[in-house]
Amino acid sequence: MKLWGGRFGKETDSRMEAFNASIQFDRRMWAADIRGSIAYARALERAGLISAEERDVLIRGLEEVAGEFASGQFVFLPSDEDIHTAVERRLRERVGPVADKLHTGRSRNDQVATDLRLYLLDEIPVLRRHLKGLQEAIVDRAEEHLEVIMPGYTHLQHAQPIRFSHWLMSFFWAFARDQERLREMERRVSVLPLGAGALAGHSLGIDRRYLAEELGFEAIGENSVDAVSDRDFVAEFLFWAALLQVHLSRLAEDLILWSSAEFGFVELDEAYATGSSLMPQKRNPDSLELLRGKAGRLIGHLTGLLTTLKGLPTGYNKDLQEDKEPLFDALDTLRLALPVAAGVIRTLRVHPERMAAALDDGILATDLADYLVRRGVPFRQSHYLVGLAVRRAEKLGVPLRSLPLPEFQAISPAFGPDLYEVFDHHRSVEARSSEGGTALSALREQIARAREVLSLESSTERSGVL
Ligand code: ARG
Repeated sequence: MKLWGGRFGKETDSRMEAFNASIQFDRRMWAADIRGSIAYARALERAGLISAEERDVLIRGLEEVAGEFASGQFVFLPSDEDIHTAVERRLRERVGPVADKLHTGRSRNDQVATDLRLYLLDEIPVLRRHLKGLQEAIVDRAEEHLEVIMPGYTHLQHAQPIRFSHWLMSFFWAFARDQERLREMERRVSVLPLGAGALAGHSLGIDRRYLAEELGFEAIGENSVDAVSDRDFVAEFLFWAALLQVHLSRLAEDLILWSSAEFGFVELDEAYATGSSLMPQKRNPDSLELLRGKAGRLIGHLTGLLTTLKGLPTGYNKDLQEDKEPLFDALDTLRLALPVAAGVIRTLRVHPERMAAALDDGILATDLADYLVRRGVPFRQSHYLVGLAVRRAEKLGVPLRSLPLPEFQAISPAFGPDLYEVFDHHRSVEARSSEGGTALSALREQIARAREVLSLESSTERSGVL
């Protein structure tokens, strides 16, 4: 019998049944659904709607059904439209007609929104731990390679030398913002819809504050219409996931490029590479390509959900059933992407000699301009004068440091014989000791702050919302 069968005189078309069903994907919410129902049975008893014995029968029955799910024994029937229907149907089979009292005052509208929030609240700490694992891998490797200097790029052109660790740490802070966003979001996920009924609330004296406390929600939805139709928390989560994957894609792209034969700056561990079925020599960076490629998928989920939500009429509409697959897929994607990214970073081989070989003189042109600034030349002019020197060296076909002093002095008398001291990449990075800069002292401070951020992260874990 369908939950809503009473007013219908006709069978549902079988294709409509398949089209309508969400059981294929919402079954994973069984634990949240049963938790919600156990709390609801307690609330019904407190409201005097069922007896204490009936409550206990319902709770025991629900626990048995949970046991069937946990052990993989639960048998779905073709008539199980969604997880809520399936649990209630099985409960009735186990405890008899008292099961019919469980749904008093409740709608699947407030039930499904509650389940989804509970489900996501359980997943958030898992994601936080995976993300933290990646952050730790980054800091550990950064600390290990403090002395490695490489070309820093803008527009993918040589810009200024930086420490390899400095590049690596740049991603730490992007992921730290992702951590922060997730922590802040948790508060908005932790709002109870249950007790909103179909849309208008209920008339039966069921205590929503009690339900919130039982289920560990921080707050209750203040408006029952909003409570059943609000999917902001899913949209927000999907944005979070998409942005995190965008960060992963950028990290991946740098490493894909740098592991090419032309760069050879880094080498991907075999555990994270795959071969070619045709070319025996190939070692392809598939892990990184997928970290890059999955960003398209997650951006798609965000766009898809926002498109579903746009212009929906007030209240629950079946369109909202489309919220789950993108959410679940985003969770599944990140549950693998984050540990893979951490593994790639932990096992990456770094080739400092290849990075050093890529450091040319041009990349020190800013240092030469700074040299002139220290000798009293206004920066705009020194920039121009060094530009002339670069052009002259190019014309003569020599590296900048081989341009003889008279050539430099013909460009500007401000150039002195000590200008050649500038041509030292180590000196160049050490000069950038501003906070957040690439000098060793600044980098060590940055790493120390990152470690602090990580230890704070451990202390807020599981404590729930800040
Ligand atoms: N499977 C539905 C969903 O995921 C459950 C809610 C159904 N509500 C309804 N009024 N038909 O949204």
